[in-house]
Amino acid sequence: MILPTRDFLVSPSSAVRGSILVPGDKSISHRAVIFGAISEGHTHVSGFLPGEDTLATAQIFRQLGVAVTRIDTTTLSIDGVGLHGLRSSAADLDCGNAGTAMRLLTGLLAGQTFATRLVGDESLSRRPMRRVTDPLALMGGRIHSTAAGTAPLVIEPSPNLTGIDYLCPVASAQIKSCVLLAGLYAHGETCVREPAPTRDYTERMLAALGAEIRVDGNAIRLLPGRNLLAGPIAVPGDFSSAAFFLVAGAIARQGELTVTNVGLNPRRTGLLDCLIEMGADIAVLDERLVAGERVADLRVRAGELRAIDVPIARVPDMIDEFPAFAIAAACARGITRIHGAHELRVKESDRLAAMAAGLRILGVAVEEYPDGMAIEGQTEFSGGEVDSLGDHRIAMSFAVAALRATAPLAIRDCANVDTSFPGFAEMAGLIGISIEVRGAA
Ligand code: S3P
Repeated sequence: MILPTRDFLVSPSSAVRGSILVPGDKSISHRAVIFGAISEGHTHVSGFLPGEDTLATAQIFRQLGVAVTRIDTTTLSIDGVGLHGLRSSAADLDCGNAGTAMRLLTGLLAGQTFATRLVGDESLSRRPMRRVTDPLALMGGRIHSTAAGTAPLVIEPSPNLTGIDYLCPVASAQIKSCVLLAGLYAHGETCVREPAPTRDYTERMLAALGAEIRVDGNAIRLLPGRNLLAGPIAVPGDFSSAAFFLVAGAIARQGELTVTNVGLNPRRTGLLDCLIEMGADIAVLDERLVAGERVADLRVRAGELRAIDVPIARVPDMIDEFPAFAIAAACARGITRIHGAHELRVKESDRLAAMAAGLRILGVAVEEYPDGMAIEGQTEFSGGEVDSLGDHRIAMSFAVAALRATAPLAIRDCANVDTSFPGFAEMAGLIGISIEVRGAA
């Protein structure tokens, strides 16, 4: 089947202005639905991301017998069924483009008394799933993937999981969360050890809901047995969505813009540290705590950037921001180097290859490494036609590059922007980046 595509045609511009509120955090929105569904009682979720990824998670729980109701675009009401109240679904559970949904749900569903089948779109069906099926098999889970270790995943009932002590081979919040979710259904303690710290929303939510969970250095230990007790969840704006506008403000020739209500979990803000080290004029304003998460408004002013070497230890803290970062690097004086980022090859696209190819089309000198890239900054980009490879973050990053382009930029295959950032093109228009959306609505 040939699906209709959507393209962005972005006009060159040079100035930014205004104040915007980006959509809710994707990682927290997925988890709000998952944990709301298996808690006892009612969960009110405000600030929910109405993106295709998180709506897919909500739909899956409806199929599993949970009342998940949309009160308005960004507010959800979930009637939790408790840890053992999920019901089987005769139909496949479709995760769409969402790796977080598929990997976390595999852990949750591994310990149920009924079988399920998880499917995803073409991109998700190429992404590695052994990273979750291997530890689950050690716990006694019975999950069948394709011979290549990819989806569809058939999850057989395994009511007798056993806790494990597991060292994640890669720094991944999805693997950690998957194993902890299975641990809720296992006998004995489950311990996950991380090679480097990653976003900790699962641990924080489990603790807030009353689970017996302890963080001890790089080890997270969970003891099953306690019911989870529902409570309201306020989702802050997604730093990963704010990232495109931070880079836009930093590379613009003039102007300033403010992104309000942005979640600043320290495991997410590596891009902010990089941009500040590169000389970007960014102010963190009105910092506050919302439901235990650091939240602030970020004001960025146009200015000059200089190249840096990204510290390898910072890579997990900006893992989703490298496409946007690559655009900033392409505008910075000198050569910026990224290493230790192999994981970018198995995201929604091979992001190292996608960014290298697109930047070269814009006239930027790029050297690609197996685990990163070197980017030589330019003062301006040519226009041209860039392929996003169906990857939302690649599409949005190149849209921002129009602030340094001398001719229009066509970006192919942008429909998946809706997975994480519905309304991106309109919001970009508000701050001074003009995007004509062509093709499928
Ligand atoms: C996520 C973890 C990260 C990130 C993804 C969201 C999460 O993936 O890239 O967008 O919500 O746990 P990995 O765990 O594969 O690094």
